[in-house]
Amino acid sequence: MCGIVGYIGKKNASDFLLEALKKLEYRGYDSAGIAICDTKINVIKKAGRINVLKKAISDAKDFCGNSGIGHTRWATHGKPSDINAHPHVGRSGKIAIVHNGIIENYIVLKKSLIKKNIKFISETDSEIIAAMIDYLYEDDIFSAVIKTVCSLEGSFALGILCSDFPDKIIAVKKESPIIIGIGDNENYIASDIYAFADRTKHIYRLDECEIAVLGASEVNFYNFQGKKIEKNMAEIDWEIGSSEKDGFEHFMLKEIMEQPEAIKKTLLLRCVKNDIVINELNKSYLESLNKICIVACGSSYHVGMAARYAFEKIVRIATNVELASEFRYRSPIIDKNTLVIIISQSGETADSLAALRESKRRGAKTLAIVNVVGSSIASEANFVVYTWAGIEVAVATTKAYSAQLSVMYALSLYISKVLNRISKEKFEVYFQDLISLPNLIEEVLKSKDQVFKIAQKYSQADNVFFIGRGVDYAVCMEGSLKFKEVSYIHSEAYAAGELKHGTISLVENGTIVIALATDPRLFEKTISNIREVRARGALCIAITTKENFNAISSVADDILCVPKIHSIMMPSLTVIPLQLFAYYVALLHKRDIDKPRNLAKSVTVE
Ligand code: AGP
Repeated sequence: MCGIVGYIGKKNASDFLLEALKKLEYRGYDSAGIAICDTKINVIKKAGRINVLKKAISDAKDFCGNSGIGHTRWATHGKPSDINAHPHVGRSGKIAIVHNGIIENYIVLKKSLIKKNIKFISETDSEIIAAMIDYLYEDDIFSAVIKTVCSLEGSFALGILCSDFPDKIIAVKKESPIIIGIGDNENYIASDIYAFADRTKHIYRLDECEIAVLGASEVNFYNFQGKKIEKNMAEIDWEIGSSEKDGFEHFMLKEIMEQPEAIKKTLLLRCVKNDIVINELNKSYLESLNKICIVACGSSYHVGMAARYAFEKIVRIATNVELASEFRYRSPIIDKNTLVIIISQSGETADSLAALRESKRRGAKTLAIVNVVGSSIASEANFVVYTWAGIEVAVATTKAYSAQLSVMYALSLYISKVLNRISKEKFEVYFQDLISLPNLIEEVLKSKDQVFKIAQKYSQADNVFFIGRGVDYAVCMEGSLKFKEVSYIHSEAYAAGELKHGTISLVENGTIVIALATDPRLFEKTISNIREVRARGALCIAITTKENFNAISSVADDILCVPKIHSIMMPSLTVIPLQLFAYYVALLHKRDIDKPRNLAKSVTVE
């Protein structure tokens, strides 16, 4: 979603700002802009890609200054356009702001400013912030900022410039992340660490309702009451990973191929000497549990759907899987005996963060499974287990999904062992399966050319159904989401047994059905469902284990095989051909694969 960057130093700010905005492109955006401060504020903002902005800046004369703020906008209030793009400037021309988040009371505030003859030119909620600071500003910019932020409701991370103080930039945080980077006689702000990670490892994270005032060689922090506060500088001591394509045509393909490595790194600290180490959760705490709730959005929710089978089978604690956007507004029955597991690649998803807060409010303990160190969800959860997938740039997640799954398997094994719910022998079998995942995935990835040929054969489909039973159904949900995200072709995931309760009416000559049939207990039943759709003219691509090849060949038009592993870990293997299929169909349709239309990598608003 929207991205913020800012610079104060001795160099021309726009060079860093353009470079940093480019790094935040992966978050998803539809317009971008930069404000530079010299003796006055200059703004250039454009609908479209950063390259359009870059061209406008290189065509402009005298677009230079040593302080500046930049923004990539993902439209919420008002269409993508030059006018709605950030930065927004107050009517005096002295104040410019960039904003991430949503101002919930902007209509009330806007009406009161309109009564004071202040004019608005954009459709955004964000313009109110520039207008209000500008209205309140006489000679003390800090006090105008404080008064403004105290009257805003909603979520906001802000970058602020004032032309009367060209040697300062201001950053504000409430419910939307913003990070300060400390350089050598230059400092940075960004909503996302990747924006400046190649320039400094020294950072400050703003906490709730905090303000930072940055000069080139100093930063001061304040709360919303204007009181100075002390903060500790942190050092980034983890590997961020390469955000280059390294010869791949798209990040999505690169990240699909990186999955064995992502799982290896994630399990490295957790699988030690034939045992699982998750010391964050101790025995006496685990003994108090009578319920587990897995709460997440999108693909992370699908990880929960797949992991539930492991939790139910080997942990034997009642396990619910919930969409964060629904969970947060229900009255979930959770208490101190419930462990709420929040899964999130970005660690910033607004609904997941709100669900975490609601869980804590109701007395439950929260465990975050997160890929971004120090993100909001990681910071606020009671316990954190990181996935070490490295930076994931493609909007459609692949390696983070796989790393999350591996953590969830490890977690289920760990809890079942600590609670003595699993025999030594069974633990050993599952453990060996878990640590063999990277090699097995490597083997599945070798089928990529075969998947490409199948994608060529079926790429003209209008509708695709993904069907399966049990854990295969959970993978179908992810396969279908991946497919529609990047190919823009309609698809649906269905529990195979549910088809004849309505959906089968959509199956006709030429409908594409991708059937997953890996669970030996349910194999014959899924075969019957494949026969039912084939009898109505559907074409079927089956995904199964090598052992089942012959049994399925009479009912499927094409078959993709994966190695055999215990059913509960099968999603880690079957998801691979589905990711590749989605990628190749999107490639054949020449889609914007890494940044699909309308989507954002990190969904920081509701
Ligand atoms: C999946 O490809 C999407 N990018 C999306 O569904 C994503 O999984 C969802 O928005 C949740 O994001 P999170 O894991 O960062 O919380």
